[in-house]
Amino acid sequence: MSYARTIIQARDVAKELPMGAHVIHALRGINMDIYAGEMVGIVGPSGSGKSTLLGIIGGLDTPTHGSIAIDGVDITHMNEDQLTEIRNEKIGFIFQFFNLIPTLTALENVALPVQFARKSRHQPEKRAKELLGILGLGDRLHHRPSELSGGQQQRVAIARALANNPPLLLADEPTGNLDSESGATVMQALQDIRREGGTTVVIVTHDTTVARQTDRIMTLVDGKIADGIHINGR
Ligand SMILES: Nc1ncnc2c1ncn2[C@@H]1O[C@H](COP(=O)(O)OP(=O)(O)OP(=O)(O)O)[C@@H](O)[C@H]1O
Ligand SMILES: [Mg+2]
Repeated sequence: MSYARTIIQARDVAKELPMGAHVIHALRGINMDIYAGEMVGIVGPSGSGKSTLLGIIGGLDTPTHGSIAIDGVDITHMNEDQLTEIRNEKIGFIFQFFNLIPTLTALENVALPVQFARKSRHQPEKRAKELLGILGLGDRLHHRPSELSGGQQQRVAIARALANNPPLLLADEPTGNLDSESGATVMQALQDIRREGGTTVVIVTHDTTVARQTDRIMTLVDGKIADGIHINGR
């Protein structure tokens, strides 16, 4: 496969967090390029900086040094409003604990980001129904999160992440809270999305079954990329 464009470019990204009299070096000079259409796994021990890195890539957090560009746009010094716009347009997030709104149905949870997106061409409810159908939840539209299994809730969260058709999907331990069968369903859904939509997918995971399904794996140790980049199975 040849990759046309860089969708994530990190240059010397560092994150220092003040902790009382000390400073925690959560990231220490990350350099990486991720190309449109790739599925990349980020692995590494607890506390190695995986979630911090994903947050910076996704514009939820800012680096203390270095620069980060998403789809050719430097987001390093953007203000909160600009970052919000980038997140709405370009990025879908999936978290370990689903983060669905408990009082809203599956349909309402997925429709919400479409309503927020200013430039959306979609009708929120129509788009939400379509996505939930694709994810095998066409018969669960009016269920609330508490009325769904873990795997079903995570598929609702994936549908929500895809609501505005972002080019980039960031997932932090998407199967971390699921049994292996639900985890496999969720991974299948991510593979399908990536194949059909050309979506770039970055997955932070502890799960070797998940990591093995990505195109390449980056290992973080102590805030640094430990081993360069492995091409998975190739
Ligand atoms: N808000 C914060 N204030 C201070 N230190 C923090 C903060 N957030 C994270 N850290 C520290 O930064 C380091 C990296 O944390 P991070 O959450 O990125 O790790 P991780 O690789 O995602 O770990 P895990 O696999 O346990 O989720 C850790 O040492 C953590 O204690
Ligand atoms: Mg983490």
